[in-house]
Amino acid sequence: MKREDIDRIFQQLEELKCKTQKEVEEARVRFLGKKGEVTALFEEFRTVDREQKAEFGRSLNELKQKVQAKIEELKSSAVETGASDGPRQDLSMPGDSYELGSRHPVSIVRQEIVNIFRKFGYDVAEGPEIEDDYHVFEALNFPPNHPARDMQDTFFVSAGHLNPLLLRTHTSSVQVRTMEKMDVPIRVICPGRVFRNEAISARAHCIFHQVEGLYIDEGVTFADLKQAILLFAREMFGSDTQIRMRPSYFPFTEPSAEVDVSCNICHGKGCNICKGTGWLEILGCGMVDPNVLEASGIDSKKYSGFAFGMGLERIAMLKWRVNDLRHYFENDLRFLHEFESAPEI
Ligand code: PHE
Repeated sequence: MKREDIDRIFQQLEELKCKTQKEVEEARVRFLGKKGEVTALFEEFRTVDREQKAEFGRSLNELKQKVQAKIEELKSSAVETGASDGPRQDLSMPGDSYELGSRHPVSIVRQEIVNIFRKFGYDVAEGPEIEDDYHVFEALNFPPNHPARDMQDTFFVSAGHLNPLLLRTHTSSVQVRTMEKMDVPIRVICPGRVFRNEAISARAHCIFHQVEGLYIDEGVTFADLKQAILLFAREMFGSDTQIRMRPSYFPFTEPSAEVDVSCNICHGKGCNICKGTGWLEILGCGMVDPNVLEASGIDSKKYSGFAFGMGLERIAMLKWRVNDLRHYFENDLRFLHEFESAPEI
């Protein structure tokens, strides 16, 4: 073993420069690997004369420590982790930012409707989407063989029992639950998702959203209903909006009506949105049938009330002239981005 061999490696270490992690690893193998230069010196050390062992031993240990320290130092300063000819990464570049989503048109409309009815003193009530036959049909005065209970319209979760579970077909079920729980006077709106077994097309979907409302107190009349709907329509569609009511039928209301608003696009002149009639249908409503009040333990001789229900997709369609219901459920970003600039409400 020669002094110069050790000094030579000390010298090389001084001059060693590595740009990449790969080069650092190569240097480590060159000095400390199985066949590395420092390892070879340790091999050679075995044959050194006894009187020289102390001196060479100290130098060799010092050398090994120095190599290890140098390798560590180079490792932390070599920035590239890939191949030396790979692309350099600029660590000072800003990170990828997450894009903020925008509100869904159905959420925008729901919030708008909720805000309007909150001003009128209504509370918001929610209930389960998987319901039982009792709350969706029975308590709402649906006769046992009413076609709306038919497999055609309702998604049953468990059929055949006395009170089968099903996906609610309207949020009137939440009104029943509210009547069971709350004392009169009651003033609630029930926004939520509903399900009907319909073939999916531009005008029908098996999922949609509703806001239904219920008002029960002493002496509530059809005139109150009409006024509430008129005020709502004017807040929602503009202060010059007119409404008209057409007689209709729902098992849970008597009398019942369908409500149209004057077309806010052609202002009554007739266009393709209102199909030339000047009117757009927006909701169903009526005076709560006394049977419904009694079923939920409310004295129908003392109290009366009105209820109404509307589809949010339909209102959003009228507001933004969307011509295909399926757009609301497909999450096509090109569609959703169109609502980015909708005002925050
Ligand atoms: N529940 C009815 C529907 O889903 C709407 C409605 C609610 C009608 C309240 C009258 C009164 O179509």
